[in-house]
Amino acid sequence: MKVKVKRFKDGNFVWSEYEVDGEGRTVLEILQRIKEEIDPTLSYRAMCRAGICGTCAVKVNGEHKLACNTRVYDDITIEPVDIATPIKDLVVDHEFIYEKLKKGKVWFDPLPTNIPLKPDELKNTEKSWDCILCGICNYVCPAIQEDKNFGLPSTFTKAYGVVFDKRNANKEKLKDLVPLNIQSCTHCKNCTFSCPKDCTPEFLITILENNMVRYGLISRKEQDFGFLGF
Ligand code: FES
Repeated sequence: MKVKVKRFKDGNFVWSEYEVDGEGRTVLEILQRIKEEIDPTLSYRAMCRAGICGTCAVKVNGEHKLACNTRVYDDITIEPVDIATPIKDLVVDHEFIYEKLKKGKVWFDPLPTNIPLKPDELKNTEKSWDCILCGICNYVCPAIQEDKNFGLPSTFTKAYGVVFDKRNANKEKLKDLVPLNIQSCTHCKNCTFSCPKDCTPEFLITILENNMVRYGLISRKEQDFGFLGF
């Protein structure tokens, strides 16, 4: 099969083409095969190879995917993800994702003693805890391009678990999310459709946004679609 890889080299994007015996393999296995057997200069990022660490996101045939859990059977193109700053070949800078987590203080404030959660209490936040911070929800998000201060879908996905988990001592955690412009989300659902872990970021953003309105942290914003007037 033909594998075309879009690489960032010396400030420009260039395409490299390889012939690889890779039918039925994952994109990550194909990249490893290229690096080990054909072109040792190819750079990409991966660690766990099992869909857990979240480092291997790339675009496969134009769609954002985890390289390690995407199996391919025909010719493919592999590109670096959108939005993030490219560093070398398929490797991009993830720092902007961590900066937004810091800005929203998305972490637990521990209770003096641990308290167990019942299974149904855990169910409420499990979509949030399933997030592996692969960043794919951010790379497909149009709101980021409109508002550089928007907190990112990944930040709100993680924040949901912190806000609604009773083991967090800070019961006013929602306040920390105010600077992240949650209302810049267009609710296009690109993030939800692309998430490889089915975390439904747009749904979690909607619930956080509703609660922020309810507690007076942000003002209610209604969209006028024009067709509701008589
Ligand atoms: S290598 Fe860890 S998620 Fe793909």
